[in-house]
Amino acid sequence: MNRQEAVKLENVTKRFGNVVAVNNVSFEVYKGELFSLLGPSGCGKTTTLRIISGLERPDEGRVYIEGTDVTELPARERRVCLVFQEYAVFPHMNVYENIEFGLKVKMLPRAERDKKVKEVAELLELVDYLNYKGGRLGLSDQQKVAIARCLVVEPKLLLLDEPLTLVDARVRERMRRELKRIQRELGTTMIYVTHDQLEALMLSDRMAVMRNGKIIQIGTPEEIYDNPADMFIATFVGSPAMNFLEGVLEVEEGMLILKTSSYKYVLSKSIESSAVQNLIGTEVVIGFRPEDAEVRHSGEVEGVIKLVEIVEDRKILHIKINEDEVKVLADIFTSFTEGQKVKVWINPLRLHIFEKKNGKKLLKGVVSR
Ligand SMILES: Nc1ncnc2c1ncn2[C@@H]1O[C@H](COP(=O)(O)OP(=O)(O)OP(=O)(O)O)[C@@H](O)[C@H]1O
Ligand SMILES: [Mg+2]
Repeated sequence: MNRQEAVKLENVTKRFGNVVAVNNVSFEVYKGELFSLLGPSGCGKTTTLRIISGLERPDEGRVYIEGTDVTELPARERRVCLVFQEYAVFPHMNVYENIEFGLKVKMLPRAERDKKVKEVAELLELVDYLNYKGGRLGLSDQQKVAIARCLVVEPKLLLLDEPLTLVDARVRERMRRELKRIQRELGTTMIYVTHDQLEALMLSDRMAVMRNGKIIQIGTPEEIYDNPADMFIATFVGSPAMNFLEGVLEVEEGMLILKTSSYKYVLSKSIESSAVQNLIGTEVVIGFRPEDAEVRHSGEVEGVIKLVEIVEDRKILHIKINEDEVKVLADIFTSFTEGQKVKVWINPLRLHIFEKKNGKKLLKGVVSR
């Protein structure tokens, strides 16, 4: 596929006094893509968006939009629209006037403005509200108006900064779906900022995970979920979070063992790959997702069920294994009870091995398929 570049950041750094808000960030977003920036509060997401939109000037690095260096270009000349977390509708104007605003600024003729406003209103299902005053709308409709106001001017790039945070949970899911539908229909390039991992996984074509001003991993939601680059991402993405067990990798009778402070656990009956062999003797943290383990009648690890939690259509079993506690998913129909002794089987194909000293991923899967 020939992917055309919509935005590119090249070694962008932004400091506020001693705080490095954005630290040597580089990434590119392709045309028509929905790209998310995911990370915890304060990691530099908003600053990155403000740099792309031109509201903030980077201290170092360059910003390109459709191949043109816009680093020195003022915001109004970039054809980029930013939707904030707090809604910026004009409360005394009605929805029609709110959407029309950007077109008036551009001094488009009335008939053309009317046509465009109605098209966008249709797309966002705002047609019935065109006469409502902005201030009278509910929060999710206000946010729709804010998005409509952006879309109507046909930006090269739509930037959304946690646009659904203030919308209540029930409506948020619907808004997410609508956003994705609109993005697909119009083919608008979008950068979507969120601290909500599920939102990023659901929406994105590709996503970047940020921490402390840096981008740690870029990939499709599947890549990030299946192959997190370090323990931070492994913990941050996915719910319930990945389980971790700490220990040293050893070999015993040809089997791969994790030796923790209090017990030994067979990870695999054989050691096939040289990648695994190279890690023997290393202090590691092994990680596995709750859905990559099963409670079975036979298995290598014994534990006790401490809690059976029902979440939607499945059970989360909290299992104490010696000093550690792990979560394992089970079918809703299973009949596990608290206090029950069980054996845990961990899928060796889906086991992650991280380096203990820095949390970096060393390997995924300890047997070959
Ligand atoms: N104008 C500013 N002056 C001083 N410090 C700032 C300014 N803007 C951002 N910062 C600091 O830069 C860092 C990154 O902030 P930023 O708002 O980009 O993070 P964020 O990822 O958007 O966080 P949140 O999820 O809370 O919105 C933070 O430490 C923040 O306090
Ligand atoms: Mg922010």
